[in-house]
Amino acid sequence: MPGIVIVGAQWGDEGKGKITDLLAEQADAVVRFQGGNNAGHTIVRDGETYKLHLMPSGILHPGKLCVIGNGVVIDPKILTDELDDLRRRNVDTSSLRISANAHLIMPYHMLLDHAGEIKLGRLQIGTTRRGIGPCYADKAARLGIRVQDLLDEKILKKKIVAAMEPKRLSLRDFARDPRLDLQTMTEEYLTYGHRIKQYIADTSRLVLERLDEQELVVFEGAQGTLLDIDHGTYPFVTSSNPIAGSATIGAGIGPRDIDEVWGITKAYSTRVGSGPFPTEVEGALGDELRERGAEFGTTTGRPRRVGWLDLVALRYAARLNSLTALAITKLDVLSGQPTLSVCTRYRANDGLELEHFPYHQTVLHHSVGEYEELPGWSEDISECRHEEELPETARDYLKYISAFVRAPIALISVGPGRDQVIWTEAGKRMYGSGAVAGS
Ligand code: IMP
Repeated sequence: MPGIVIVGAQWGDEGKGKITDLLAEQADAVVRFQGGNNAGHTIVRDGETYKLHLMPSGILHPGKLCVIGNGVVIDPKILTDELDDLRRRNVDTSSLRISANAHLIMPYHMLLDHAGEIKLGRLQIGTTRRGIGPCYADKAARLGIRVQDLLDEKILKKKIVAAMEPKRLSLRDFARDPRLDLQTMTEEYLTYGHRIKQYIADTSRLVLERLDEQELVVFEGAQGTLLDIDHGTYPFVTSSNPIAGSATIGAGIGPRDIDEVWGITKAYSTRVGSGPFPTEVEGALGDELRERGAEFGTTTGRPRRVGWLDLVALRYAARLNSLTALAITKLDVLSGQPTLSVCTRYRANDGLELEHFPYHQTVLHHSVGEYEELPGWSEDISECRHEEELPETARDYLKYISAFVRAPIALISVGPGRDQVIWTEAGKRMYGSGAVAGS
């Protein structure tokens, strides 16, 4: 199975970084295909914590090809800071490759993101304010600045002028901001270009070469299915497509190059930012889950909204991504809950019961979860390494999820450490020798 896509099956923050890191051990290449430094992956390795925003999770494995694909939007300051930090910690970054076609986040994108949110007031999306939306907007408007433009001063300057022209009105409050000075900006970005030049490549070709050799390539999604700009809870979404199909566009491969799609989901739900969240739990129980799960954003530090597992949304994610398997993370956080609620349908405000994720946002906004109650467990499961070691009720909880979503569970994470993982029989079958490493 040479091509495996890892996607978030919820609203992001499902723990994709850890799963990618585990798969990366056996992989030959790890590729990011969308999003930017709005993402944040925390990987705990040998007791050290790495918080990566742009770098593919495989970077911690020396010698793996690590690709930032054309579908990613890159803030070159963050990229060069991450490179410096990794080098300081003796991580070899020489196998990183960056697509020449990836778009760059410019200072005006960040200012516009910030200003846009302020303007929306109570209706704000709750973006990470990293300039992601305005950068993708410029890409679609064909006013984007791409990585390759950093290698040509004349072109770079021309493109910056062209990109800023239509934004003059929106940027007038920042007219004196030194970050927007043409000369300063051009020089700053040329310096970044100089620093990353050695990594710039035709990454689509590099990835295809690996796939042709039947080598294992992991495509690492950022954010999650319900934040997808087309299929998520629009407008409370990100500006890219975090679903599996997007791996083809954002990495420059064909649909037939993908063999497996794993959906990563927490054993409960979280969401950052605004927007509908039918299974949200507030009050003391919400606080307890947030504290136990350390649910505070890697990128912004914001407390995450928490809720019960939403199987209606998860089944929707399975459909959109054609999931071949699930990986369940943070199962340990649920230890100690006497009963666990799982949402199996929604109740719309006209009283109608909905089995499927509604296409109309107004309906979704007014829908609340309807639940089945499943028995919980009190044991600490963070030391379990085999399915049989889990309490029976925990195994039943997992079986219920798998049957409802109609996807096998390949992997269960029971703590933040990379060894705190259980490979199921299905996971071992799918992942071959990787399972041996994990079992
Ligand atoms: P943006 O991607 O910064 O434009 O933010 C749009 C929405 O996506 C906001 O609700 C963010 O909180 C959310 N979002 C973006 N990236 C992530 C992520 O990596 N995890 C969780 N939520 C995210």
